[in-house]
Amino acid sequence: MAKCRICGNAISAFMTFGRMPLANGFLTPDQFKDEYFFELAPAFCDSCHTVQLVDQPAPEAMFHGEYAFFSQTSKAMAAHFERFANDTMARRLGKTDPFVVELGSNDGIMLRHFAKAGIRHLGIEPSANVAEAARGQGVNTRCAFFGAETAREIMAEYGQADIIQAANVMCHIPDLNSVAEGVALLLKPDGFLIFEDPYLGDVIRKTSYDQIYDEHVYVFSALSVARIFGSHGLELVAVEPQVTHGGSMRYVIGRKGRHVVEASVAAAMADERALGLDKAATYDQFRRNCEASKDALMAALNDLAAKGKRVVGYGATSKSTTVTQYCGITPKHVEFISDTTPTKQGKCSPGAHIPVKPYDAFASSYPDVALLFAWNHAQEIFAKEEGFKASGGRWLVYVPEVTFI
Ligand code: TMP
Repeated sequence: MAKCRICGNAISAFMTFGRMPLANGFLTPDQFKDEYFFELAPAFCDSCHTVQLVDQPAPEAMFHGEYAFFSQTSKAMAAHFERFANDTMARRLGKTDPFVVELGSNDGIMLRHFAKAGIRHLGIEPSANVAEAARGQGVNTRCAFFGAETAREIMAEYGQADIIQAANVMCHIPDLNSVAEGVALLLKPDGFLIFEDPYLGDVIRKTSYDQIYDEHVYVFSALSVARIFGSHGLELVAVEPQVTHGGSMRYVIGRKGRHVVEASVAAAMADERALGLDKAATYDQFRRNCEASKDALMAALNDLAAKGKRVVGYGATSKSTTVTQYCGITPKHVEFISDTTPTKQGKCSPGAHIPVKPYDAFASSYPDVALLFAWNHAQEIFAKEEGFKASGGRWLVYVPEVTFI
């Protein structure tokens, strides 16, 4: 029996997505034979209410010197991180020589705004190539995984932090107790830990099961976050919903008793109880919803293939690996995936082995249907792809429901 990574309670998977490759494991045909697979199976802990993967590949297998994900690929995300940084500077930052630490600072998409404002800062980024890109932007970056030990090193060199920030990172870290311990050491008495991640409430409401993949060891709720950090002398003081990644939540955490707990916390927890995020039965229903989504998507793709329609994937997203693999999408259904990230182009998608091509391959010869793997960027993409619609092209989306647009 597996144990909850947070509280040690016995957990078991409420469903399996089956044999799964690394979500960012883009590869060339000569690497197919050595492709890494694990079983992607989420579990719900009925003691601390944390949704988590039962098994996860070693972090070193996922975040390494050739990690394919660079944050600065979407204009909307770049704007989001600028607003995040400005909001922190305006509302949460201490006044005297403030120091900001970001966990998983990627290519410096957020921290560069603090750097520009002349604020002392340090990014912690485990992927060497991504950390190097951040340094190139003038963002002070250390290549490391964050935990209690790294926190002690940072304190020795820089002192305590006013702000510890993280975006789409906390849900990647299996040993969150070590992170919470590190935060409890590193944070100034009145400092804030502010982080955001895809939100369980949205995943359940929209059946956006593609948020579940190797790197996302957790899908958080206010209920679980309060519990995770609560056992380290920390307290959830505010939550702020975000539209990013198809629905995220920002959590603001301080030392217990140092801040007024805002009404948003009780409100989110009441919503979560009403949605059943604290009950095992909710996850059984979610499994049935995933199965129905898969059946509907494959019915649509098989029908298009039978009619000889050209279908191209739009955005070789990490989360689309769960969709292609769980549903059984192959190059027979999807000719190629268009993606703007140079490190993905010329490779094949993990598991399904659908070729990834530069954006030009899409734009120079529009398909009949574009399967929107990057559905979380739908607004930005629909706005810039009016030409595709004008050519008679249709979008196939699968969140919250399988539909043509
Ligand atoms: P993300 O949803 O995990 O941020 O990944 C987005 C992926 O989609 C990334 O590989 C870049 C790609 N993409 C495009 O190819 N075109 C676009 O217009 C956008 C917004 C993303």
